[in-house]
Amino acid sequence: MIETVSSDSPNLPDSQGYFGQFGGNHYPPEVKPALDELANTYRAVRQSRDFQRTLDTVRKGLQGRPTPVHYLENTSRRIGGAQIYVKREDLNHTGAHKINHCVGFALLAREMGKRKLIAETGAGQHGVALAAAAAYFGLECEIHMGAIDIEKQSSNVGRMRLLGAHVVSATAGQSTLKEASDSAFNAYVEQRDHALYAIGSAIGPHPFPMIVRDFQSVVGREARGQFLSLTGGCLPDHVVACVAGGSNALGIYAGFLDDSDVALHAVEPLGKSDEPGQHAATLSFGRPGVLHGARSIILQQDGAPAKVSSVASGLVYPGVGPEIAMLHDTGRLSVSAIPDEEVIDVFFQVTRSEGIIPALESVHALAYGIRLASSEPASKRILVNLSGRGDKDVDHVIANYGAGCRLTT
Ligand SMILES: Cc1ncc(COP(=O)(O)O)c(C=O)c1O
Repeated sequence: MIETVSSDSPNLPDSQGYFGQFGGNHYPPEVKPALDELANTYRAVRQSRDFQRTLDTVRKGLQGRPTPVHYLENTSRRIGGAQIYVKREDLNHTGAHKINHCVGFALLAREMGKRKLIAETGAGQHGVALAAAAAYFGLECEIHMGAIDIEKQSSNVGRMRLLGAHVVSATAGQSTLKEASDSAFNAYVEQRDHALYAIGSAIGPHPFPMIVRDFQSVVGREARGQFLSLTGGCLPDHVVACVAGGSNALGIYAGFLDDSDVALHAVEPLGKSDEPGQHAATLSFGRPGVLHGARSIILQQDGAPAKVSSVASGLVYPGVGPEIAMLHDTGRLSVSAIPDEEVIDVFFQVTRSEGIIPALESVHALAYGIRLASSEPASKRILVNLSGRGDKDVDHVIANYGAGCRLTT
């Protein structure tokens, strides 16, 4: 008999996988039995004490959880406005929040008797995290990555290979995250009898967005408790996260969704400009459509997913997950977009003044946190999800911007 614990999942999605008008299962019908099998196994095991106990043990030992909440004292003092705190997801083993759901998927694969994990990756963080989880649980691992990203994030490609993963280059279209997702989805459809798709974000057909959100909710649960004890019982006034598919954002929002006084912010990449093809700001410029098996908000051009651009490979995606689309639709989220130039400035500022090299994805959230702090009084508190570390970006930044001092303020 399965020993049960109470589930921390909110009521959504509904039984068809919808978050309001977004979500569902828009996948080829032949894949439905595999997705139903996944949903049923997940429903059974997520309430099992054994499953949760194993997950907690792996999170503590392999991953290094809990990650701390840390006050960015130097940056806050320099700005002279609101106080900025960060949730240090960059301190996770393998360098980002992605491993929170990778170990969950690896455990699920074991429960389902699957021998292989398949996924896409953009910046390579998800690929490395999944390769590590697969190695730990003795599973095969196949990672699909855009040819452009393979070149840009070569250190992560090396790490995936060292960890035993097979890296498949996606060469269609823009050769970035969307094409990697197309390629990984196709590989999963072909291999679904022995493989589990460990999707990289809270995207895709039901039940993937729900599963990723639930595994990532550990971030928000921890952050809430840590913030309360650090500030003597105060909640943040603002919670800020960068958004591509939405996994790190939903993770940290999970601790504060019901607190109507806590403003939730989604930060997108404005890339080189607001011209079509020059950014990946889906919530700012997109409209409803279907991408990768779910109805959501999609950046579109001539009836197809738009070309997208950002200095941060992990944000180069023309869609968002359905729960993020719903939170935007209901007005719970406010949305901003940060251009590449500002991202690079803030990358140098934070690295030099805080001794932390943040991932370029996370710098989008930090940059918006800094903007907010400068317009708010010192009594206000901002919590930013520092979703990953920037080791993977070091070569690219030095090659394109130099390692010298580039502080503009
Ligand atoms: C460090 C980091 N943060 C954020 C993201 C964006 O993904 P998501 O919106 O799923 O959190 C990525 C994606 O690769 C990433 O590597």
